[in-house]
Amino acid sequence: LTLGGVRLARLARDASIGTPSYVYDLDAIAREARELRAAFDGVPHLVAYAVKANTAGPIVRALAAEGCGADVVSGGELAVALGCGIAADDIVFSGVAKTDDEIDRALAAGARGVGAIQLESVEEIARVAARAKALGRRARVSMRINPAVSFDALDTHAHIATGHDEAKFGIPSVDVVSALERVRGLPELELVGLTVHVGSQITATEAYVEAARVVLGFARGLRDAGVTSLAFVDTGGGFGIDYGAGCAVRPADFVRAVRVEQSRARLDDLALYVEPGRSLVAAHAVLLATVIQPKIAASRRWLMIDAGMNDLIRPALYQARHRIAPLERDVTASVSEVAWCVVGPVCESSDDFGIHSLPSAPPRDVALLDAGAYGFTMASRYNGRPLPAEVFLRGGEVAFHHAREPVDRWVADRLRDES
Ligand code: LLP
Repeated sequence: LTLGGVRLARLARDASIGTPSYVYDLDAIAREARELRAAFDGVPHLVAYAVKANTAGPIVRALAAEGCGADVVSGGELAVALGCGIAADDIVFSGVAKTDDEIDRALAAGARGVGAIQLESVEEIARVAARAKALGRRARVSMRINPAVSFDALDTHAHIATGHDEAKFGIPSVDVVSALERVRGLPELELVGLTVHVGSQITATEAYVEAARVVLGFARGLRDAGVTSLAFVDTGGGFGIDYGAGCAVRPADFVRAVRVEQSRARLDDLALYVEPGRSLVAAHAVLLATVIQPKIAASRRWLMIDAGMNDLIRPALYQARHRIAPLERDVTASVSEVAWCVVGPVCESSDDFGIHSLPSAPPRDVALLDAGAYGFTMASRYNGRPLPAEVFLRGGEVAFHHAREPVDRWVADRLRDES
């Protein structure tokens, strides 16, 4: 098995890397961004990479080099985006509960603060205005609208649907007009955008376009009322990828579909922003794991690997399925495959990557595919397990890697107390 032209077995067995380890193909990630940007067909736009999907410097820098901006949701992510050379103007700051300190950092970035602080509640309007006043800055803001698209229309897991009417995200459509008036009445705020984000791992364009139509409708209304400050509409991220069960649409299809609606609303002069995370990075990485041992009991065959739910939580949290492939196959022998239940070492029954057809003679090591998004960023040290290694490939070679966190560091941290 290879990624970016590199044999993965070589990395898994390299003593300085080892397993569990995430391996990323930086060239493919850059290509993904280029393909998406081409879909805008020359109109002003910003691909604001949702940094939450993967915060690794080499990845954020590769996307910055392709002209991407960033969508951030914390002071930490903001610092990573700025540190990777993304201009403050090209950063949008989302999040339902930003602290005053985070608002201050967003306002202090660059010459004029971040491109937009996305307002997610009526209550937040006054808070952002107060911080802007205290810092003597004018805050550029965008209003995130909750379009109440029907939950079923999204066809994604409940935990990652955000644009339905019971979600904590965004300002409900019914409150938008009064909220916009409030924003426009505050001299510390400049309304530059309208935003929507309905959910993640969306595999058809309809619900996404329906939500886009809602924001475009409000944007048209503002224009008709003579509001000139509006610079963009942001239709969010959420473009699904094919984890093996199929995904007929490409990220570019969402953009092209929204562009049609934008022209129909006669708003072609507004910049179109999108906030993809997963679709830029997920498919271009794997999580390498070593098989520790099989366990064969009366009715089951478990394959126990050294990566667990602390390294990749998506199967445990969302019942997500990541395909699993052996790093090497014996091509000479006709090896029969059997159903293995692949599990990690963590003491939880949900530490289970599902049933996979793999050679009956257990492979030495395996790769969990499509692990580039929400993998390392959601990893934890649960069960006293250090964070996994990360390897970044470019031009068919290892460009950079960091080793698995030393367990001694975790132990030393836990042993600390007032003495
Ligand atoms: N914009 C906003 C406001 C978001 O909340 C999100 C994701 C994105 C953009 C990026 O969505 P994407 O293009 O990556 O789908 N941990 C989950 C996914 C959580 C998504 C949260 N918000 C998973 O592993 O599936």
